[in-house]
Amino acid sequence: MGYIGKEQALPLLIEGLRRHSYRGYDSSGVAVFDGNQVSLVRATGKLEQLEQMLVRHPLPGSVGLGHTRWATHGGINETNAHPHADCKQNIFVIHNGIFENYQILKEKLQAQGHVFASETDTEVLSHLIEHFFKGNLENAVRQALVLMKGAYGVVVFAKQDPDKIIAARLSAPLVVCMSDAGGFVASDPAGILSHSNKMVFLDDGEVAVITKDSFTVTDLKNNPKEKTVTEIDWTLQEAQKGGYAHFMLKEIMEQPESLTNALRGRLMIGEGMAKLGGLEELKKQLKDVNRIQIIACGGASYAGKFGEYIIEELAGIPVHADIGSEFRYRNPVFDKHTLSIFISQSGETADTLAALHEAKERGGLTIGIVNVVGSTLAREVGFGVYNHSGPEVAVASTKAFTSQLAVLVLIGLFLGRQRQLSIASGQQIARELNAIPGLVKRILEKCSEIEILAKKYKDVNDFWCIGRKYNYPIAWEGALKLKEICYINANGIAAGELKHGPIALINEQFPTIAICPSDSVYDKMISNIAQIKARNGKVIAIATEGNEDIKRIADDVIYIPKTLEMLTPILSTVPLQLLAYYISVQRGHDVDKPRNLAKSVTVE
Ligand code: AGP
Repeated sequence: MGYIGKEQALPLLIEGLRRHSYRGYDSSGVAVFDGNQVSLVRATGKLEQLEQMLVRHPLPGSVGLGHTRWATHGGINETNAHPHADCKQNIFVIHNGIFENYQILKEKLQAQGHVFASETDTEVLSHLIEHFFKGNLENAVRQALVLMKGAYGVVVFAKQDPDKIIAARLSAPLVVCMSDAGGFVASDPAGILSHSNKMVFLDDGEVAVITKDSFTVTDLKNNPKEKTVTEIDWTLQEAQKGGYAHFMLKEIMEQPESLTNALRGRLMIGEGMAKLGGLEELKKQLKDVNRIQIIACGGASYAGKFGEYIIEELAGIPVHADIGSEFRYRNPVFDKHTLSIFISQSGETADTLAALHEAKERGGLTIGIVNVVGSTLAREVGFGVYNHSGPEVAVASTKAFTSQLAVLVLIGLFLGRQRQLSIASGQQIARELNAIPGLVKRILEKCSEIEILAKKYKDVNDFWCIGRKYNYPIAWEGALKLKEICYINANGIAAGELKHGPIALINEQFPTIAICPSDSVYDKMISNIAQIKARNGKVIAIATEGNEDIKRIADDVIYIPKTLEMLTPILSTVPLQLLAYYISVQRGHDVDKPRNLAKSVTVE
């Protein structure tokens, strides 16, 4: 959040940060210019902590930057909190996103004598702007941003060019508005909606120069850009959810972006390889791994089951997926060539942490797939791959789950290419994986069809979700979503198991969701669907676009785009999320905070 105008900046910044706080954060900070100097106050924890510090150091001035940080590079401490300054304390930067090439730029700047205070990727930008600064801030910002790779929404202020703040975006949202009080910029309309409802949303590659009276927008080459003003008619509460009725829907809709973030900088398509910075140091030991166990709880454990299939397929290593609450009460067999992978969105799940402790005690390698940076699991596991999904607020996991699947494919690709997987197969997987965020977007564009379907099935009390091979764990995940937020007795079943008992339950009131993309087990799935139909059961099929035949046997069909068989789970998960979401809404449940459940399960 940035402000320049006639009023005192601090209360406006704090109010804006509070309205952004639903996004999740672990530290915060403000910088305010009083016409003479810039004062900086940063704190870890909740905004209240920052406010307490500000009681002791009130910051007068009518220009300022405010930021809440969700740690990605560097631990959670005051020094890593934003704003970040250059060597001369002239330039101040706040940043959302990730600069992928920060390390190399940091080394170059250090070699030129720049001294860094924090471990963050963001601080590189302050020093790079300092390097280019010749009195005009926007020119220096443009020159610096041309060199930055990754994603950013940045706001910059310079003491030596103080009549403006500069905002720029690439893959991280920024919105600008003007009011009688001055110019505002924020990551989210919620932060500034109380000042004006007339917003200008920046697009990728755009730079805004904001003064107390007006603002202009250009591209990185300083070509002027025409912008349209959008009138927002959201209430403040709606705005915090990006205009969506619930966080869950917002998070479902964010998946093209969260998947892009999970893959960003990690796919080397030409080499058919995955580049995973957090495993770099383990490269040699990973080559010698001859057994893998994947441990997680709830939805994350279903991602783990998918990991079992994909890693065995790509790397030819025996894999066993387990749940945290069972793992430590078994007598798991380990040796130094065993790799244990722990998956957790929150990084705070007690059973997963206890399993990690058990695994560490017994030896072998441990790595994590974690979303929350700096969480207990992330700190204790030592090595791993972050999801970079951003904060997930709704209790039912959606975007974190699909990014767990994507990261498991990356790990499978990495281990596979260290072993048996050919470069050609690696290239094909990398190419198709790279296209997945766009395919997810296509499914989301058809959400209204799933909403209609949800109306038809909203009063059902029992549901099955069936799948085979890679989509077997997704059947579990689909059923879990229906349990969690619709309170429906839903079960995920391996389709081949139906005949061994469950089919006794089928009747016309008992619908089944059959995940049946056109793949190697499609014919088997059709036989299972036929068995259900023969007993008058209803079937909703999740099938591949272009498959018209399925309409002859299924009652309803949801289509997903074509992709590699092993990547279909990332796509088939999305309609299951939407179906559960819309059924929950229509049943009148509290979607984001379902009864009896917590977002992080920190007890055994
Ligand atoms: C998923 O929708 C659930 N809320 C739940 O099963 C969750 O996946 C599980 O509690 C594990 O949480 P974690 O990923 O934070 O460890």
